[in-house]
Amino acid sequence: MVRIMFSLDTITSLAKRRGFVFQSSEIYGGLNGCWDYGPLGVELLANIKNAWWKEMTFRDNIEGLDAAILMHPRTWDASGHTSQFSDPMIDNKTSKSRYRADNLIEDFIEKMRKKNKTELANEIETALNQAKEPNDFYDIIIKYQIPDPVSGTTDWTPVRNFNLMFKTFIGPVEDDSAIVYLRPETAQGIFVNFKNVLDTARQKIPFGIAQIGKAFRNEINTKNFLFRTREFEQMEMQFFVKPGSEKEWFDYWKEQRWNWYNRLGMKQEKLRWKVHEKLAHYANYAVDIEFEFPFGFGEIEGIHSRTDFDLRNHQEFSGKKMEYVDSVNNERYIPYVIETSGGVSRSFMAFLCNAYDEEEVASDNGKSEKRTVLRFANVLAPIKAAILPLVNKDGMPEIAETIYRDLQKSFKVQYDTSGAIGRRYRRQDEIGTPFCITIDGQTLEDNTVTVRERDSMQQIRINADNLKNYLLEKFI
Ligand code: GAP
Repeated sequence: MVRIMFSLDTITSLAKRRGFVFQSSEIYGGLNGCWDYGPLGVELLANIKNAWWKEMTFRDNIEGLDAAILMHPRTWDASGHTSQFSDPMIDNKTSKSRYRADNLIEDFIEKMRKKNKTELANEIETALNQAKEPNDFYDIIIKYQIPDPVSGTTDWTPVRNFNLMFKTFIGPVEDDSAIVYLRPETAQGIFVNFKNVLDTARQKIPFGIAQIGKAFRNEINTKNFLFRTREFEQMEMQFFVKPGSEKEWFDYWKEQRWNWYNRLGMKQEKLRWKVHEKLAHYANYAVDIEFEFPFGFGEIEGIHSRTDFDLRNHQEFSGKKMEYVDSVNNERYIPYVIETSGGVSRSFMAFLCNAYDEEEVASDNGKSEKRTVLRFANVLAPIKAAILPLVNKDGMPEIAETIYRDLQKSFKVQYDTSGAIGRRYRRQDEIGTPFCITIDGQTLEDNTVTVRERDSMQQIRINADNLKNYLLEKFI
């Protein structure tokens, strides 16, 4: 297969042009790190979330949850977010640009690698892996004279820690006792509800709780379109297991999550594992699934073995028992947790990049032309089928509209009568519609329609009465 190269700008402009994603508050100049999903974007987003929900909760041992975005502020003390959830921030005095110090160093390492200065790159990387405190990052930047990409100077302020949680106030009085945070992850809503779900759903360990919802982080630098944003959605699942069995379940969930991306059409060569060398103090195993975006590999999902850190801390901070009582074996323990934590918007961008393709095809006038096509898996495609009467006369629009109205009861379809049939196919290819249904002269004679498949562009004729079942089978 030929690998086509494209830039992130290609994806961003297609996303805007075809109504997948718009800049937030665009008419006011936009709001950094926030994006709006347009008519096709919401469909794709919903299809990703539905596929995940089905995959995770259509099981005996996983329950769903939808916890509130605003949570008791003690939650974030217990989870460590108030004290630990910060990024090292540095400013360049000349350009006034602001960076995450670790990202600045990482980009510099990348540059050194590109210049074949491998030894230097490795040396800086080792120092970065050991860096913990703001001063450690600052020392690396000064020692290796890492310049500001904008001004080229090394005129740096000290590195400061910057907490990423958005603060707001609950109720009318804006004082410290009224501070609440917009949740930076959905996971804590699951932990604080562990007992509620356990008791009401009558589950036994091992079992999991899944949730999809918004999360907010006041990122220092937003970048790369939907990759790092300030408002985003997560799809997270916490799987509660008996201590000692966590490695077995960690391996199980690694495989499950990898297979999910594959089944949804992610190209094998576009995915890779990243094993964490620097583990969070509470984690005993952690890996990320990375996707190759046009700007390089980036994390789309993390699978973490978090021990009993979260439940134990919530027990301590709330004074409420988080133990599991195994009455069969007469044991009590705080369960260990395997977490699968994916970003909906990051996956959205990964699926969009993964689907993007360009190829030369024969056009109506016999010459060749470029075809842009989004090769989405059928379940993810925003529009499942387009209904296209060949001409706007001879009763074809009436038949087409009847078919359209009937299909619309079962899935998202479009009706398009404008322009030459070739152009209409191209429009659907560019938004990833897997099937185009054409109503033509022969339909009037024998009630058959053509079904054109997006990727192969092959056409078959089938009886209009069988069309819906034929398509439904393709979308399972
Ligand atoms: N509960 C664990 C947790 O939140 P994380 O690695 O910080 O772990 C999990 O985030 C996933 O959430 C990431 O793999 C990514 O897909 C998504 N994510 C995190 N920060 C994001 C951001 N600023 N913008 C978009 N997606 C983000």
